[in-house]
Amino acid sequence: MSISKKEYKRVTVKSLVEMKSLGEKISMLTAYDYTMAKIVDGAGIDIILVGDSASNVMAGHETTLPITLDQMIYHASSVVRAIERALVVVDLPFGTYQSDPKEALRSAIRIMKESGGHAVKLEGGKEIKDSIKKILNAGIPVMGHLGLTPQSIYKFGTYTVRAKEEEEALRLIEDAKLLERLGCFALVLEKIPAALATQVAQSISIPVIGIGAGGGVDGQVLVLHDMLGMTQEFHPRFLRRYMNLHEEMTTAISQYVDDVKSFDFPNENEQY
Ligand code: KIV
Repeated sequence: MSISKKEYKRVTVKSLVEMKSLGEKISMLTAYDYTMAKIVDGAGIDIILVGDSASNVMAGHETTLPITLDQMIYHASSVVRAIERALVVVDLPFGTYQSDPKEALRSAIRIMKESGGHAVKLEGGKEIKDSIKKILNAGIPVMGHLGLTPQSIYKFGTYTVRAKEEEEALRLIEDAKLLERLGCFALVLEKIPAALATQVAQSISIPVIGIGAGGGVDGQVLVLHDMLGMTQEFHPRFLRRYMNLHEEMTTAISQYVDDVKSFDFPNENEQY
């Protein structure tokens, strides 16, 4: 399989639109801290998402709802210090943009000012259009997120595939077109049928990044800790694991424990 790849010293929202028009797929992964972000950026990723999945992955919460704006800013500022090339998109956490557009703008401004991130991501369509408009009017790039929207988990009750029925699929297509019209620079589609995601990607000009949305979209995103095999409990069909880091880390750490207990570490060369 040939790889189409233009060199970008720094990825911007404009580069992403260009990638879509050139047919170059966009790569996106999450990161929440300096060390991981440095590795991910150095490996050539296009977008780093400081996702509110930090609530699950970093803090061990069951959902993304508890993470706060201050915590997102902490994670995002750690990531921003590490990167040289990638575009850094930061999730606005639950409760910081749904109640009114002014609060949404205040939250987005705090993210941009205090973390140095390059764009924000919000979950939802028509119901949050005024908040999106307000943020965009302030010059802050917005990425949309439709399909499975984890911040609404208690409304839906499960993490199953969304928009399988025609009514929900039509609503999703309308929302995608609305986000494009409002001026969002890209859109994440999470866990929806591949045919629907392809249809959306073909009917709008902004890049569509999928997670569990098939290969017909303009790019892919995964949660870093899942694709590295650090998390074990989570194994949806869409997840490709590139490593079994959980096993490798467990082996290394048990070896260290044994070495300490058996007086093997440190040896003569490992001391002053
Ligand atoms: O928070 C997150 O990690 C996300 C991705 C799953 C797209 O929103």
